[in-house]
Amino acid sequence: MSGKGIRIEGLRKRYGEGDTAVNALKGVDMQVAPGEVVGLIGPSGSGKSTLLKCLGAVIDPTAGRMTLGEEVIYDDGWKVRDLRALRRDKIGFVFQAPYLIPFLDVTDNVALLPMLAGVANGESRAKALELLTALDVQHRARAMPSQLSGGEQQRVAIARGLVNRPPVILADEPTAPLDSERAMAVIRILNDMARKFETAIIVVTHDEKIIPTFKRIYHIRDGVTHEEAGEGREFE
Ligand SMILES: Nc1ncnc2c1ncn2[C@@H]1O[C@H](COP(=O)(O)OP(=O)(O)O)[C@@H](O)[C@H]1O
Ligand SMILES: [Mg+2]
Repeated sequence: MSGKGIRIEGLRKRYGEGDTAVNALKGVDMQVAPGEVVGLIGPSGSGKSTLLKCLGAVIDPTAGRMTLGEEVIYDDGWKVRDLRALRRDKIGFVFQAPYLIPFLDVTDNVALLPMLAGVANGESRAKALELLTALDVQHRARAMPSQLSGGEQQRVAIARGLVNRPPVILADEPTAPLDSERAMAVIRILNDMARKFETAIIVVTHDEKIIPTFKRIYHIRDGVTHEEAGEGREFE
């Protein structure tokens, strides 16, 4: 792989100490190239959320190595001083539920992140509109979240995940509440966005509708991953 994207080597996470310690990740290897969308699949308790939280710098791994672009961000300890800035600028999150802020309109829901990163309000709104346009919800820009359909809300949530142009997107069950057609629309959008912005995207899912779309899949079981070719089925 080139110097971009994300790479994880021998990642370990232990919760707790002594007799009650849980080894949730036992040496995970994974790499996702820019522009690539990979699936992460595994049974409940296999370590999916723990892996996403380590990748998102929400919790501390116990050992191993993570490289983002050309930067080693973790090597048996964080190599980045400002983890808040890492989370804000380098990692986009898309959750199962959109978690839009109910008292902000669609544009401000998306513009909030660049505003928090210190970008001027006008420029933040312009960035938000650009993403909303790419996701084909620009006509809802002044609507409140409660006025949107479920599919529209999820597209706004994806716009918010992408607005700071993070090199990595972590999506946790992004299609779970959606019907088949809308789920495929979300996957198509994630693939388009990955290509357009050279984003590396990891999708945790057990949604049978979307699993055949991945070209590569990481299976995780008991804290260990193994890679497998997916069907990579076209979805036009
Ligand atoms: N905060 C925690 N403290 C202790 N054990 C945890 C904690 N979070 C998760 N675990 C354990 O780590 C393992 C992996 O959990 P998790 O990453 O949530 O799996 P998944 O998301 O695949 O369901 C499970 O055995 C779980 O009980
Ligand atoms: Mg989980």
